[in-house]
Amino acid sequence: MSSNSLINLPADSAARSTSVPWYAEQLEPNQLAEVKLFFIQYSDIRPDEVEAHILRARDAAWSISPWPCIGEFWFLTFSLSRHPAYTHILDTLRFQSHNDPNPPYKLLDLGTCLGQDLRKLAYDGAPIPALLGADLLDFEAAGHALFRDLDRFTRGHYIQGNIFAADDDAEDKLLKTRGSWFFVHVSMFLHIWPLEQQEEAAANILKLLKKEPGAMVIGTQTGTLTAKNDKLEPPFCRQGEEKYVYRHNCESMAALWHRVADAEGVKVDVWAGWNAEHHQKMEKIRREVPYEELSDAHREQLDERKVVFSVTRV
Ligand SMILES: C[S@@+](CC[C@H](N)C(=O)[O-])C[C@H]1O[C@@H](n2cnc3c(N)ncnc32)[C@H](O)[C@@H]1O
Repeated sequence: MSSNSLINLPADSAARSTSVPWYAEQLEPNQLAEVKLFFIQYSDIRPDEVEAHILRARDAAWSISPWPCIGEFWFLTFSLSRHPAYTHILDTLRFQSHNDPNPPYKLLDLGTCLGQDLRKLAYDGAPIPALLGADLLDFEAAGHALFRDLDRFTRGHYIQGNIFAADDDAEDKLLKTRGSWFFVHVSMFLHIWPLEQQEEAAANILKLLKKEPGAMVIGTQTGTLTAKNDKLEPPFCRQGEEKYVYRHNCESMAALWHRVADAEGVKVDVWAGWNAEHHQKMEKIRREVPYEELSDAHREQLDERKVVFSVTRV
């Protein structure tokens, strides 16, 4: 979907309706089971209150912007912790001073929304001064309400800014941080735009990185076996409007970063692969369930994959 379609929505926009397919009324039992302990331990919520708490916090976030990642509870997925580079990232952050208010190795979660990946890093032992989120919209209070951690992720860990801010935009708070991040994480971010805008965003993401070997962009996003433009349908665009987002496979994702890094004169190593767990699940369905027996939703998802990537300065 195009980000512009879900930002500054009129109050009566159809995309705000909870009848849209990407608003789930309830949590799936496995979604709750996977995060229950986290909310008990990290957020100090009583076990019997976790579900109602998540539903309430989700609806508050939905009223800010009805992103599918909010309606479908994607914000309960710790996608960074499933990235093959997670142990390296966590160790780099963890093995530095926990008392330094401005540590040398910091991670920016760009397009952070409710900030679940930052909370997971903190839970796993990364120092909180090294963890910041940035988003175009102001989800800071909604993140605090969900994770009940204003005592730990104090104000200043959230940057409101625009990855498309012009180079001479003196007001944009994200742009001011260019060159200061050892890690920039992007989850479910680039895929919200057509290819040309993804390239523009990727170039600006590279500018956020420190000019040091080892500095990395890491990410996960929705992709597909055969890279292609996907046409948006209302309410993600206006009736009759022709809008597309670009869905990558591993090769096109890697090619995008090589192209952008070359154009920016930045030397990088690039890796892209499928999220293995999701890929195996979809291949099993393809092998074992006859096509005629698949629901329409499953048929549509058969080629869908999660693309995971890392781009490392050399
Ligand atoms: C699909 S959500 C993904 C949220 C989160 N990373 C996750 O995985 O749950 C995309 C996020 O990017 C933010 N966003 C959209 N356009 C942006 C821009 N131009 N600059 C910064 N953030 C933007 C949205 O507000 C939204 O929170």
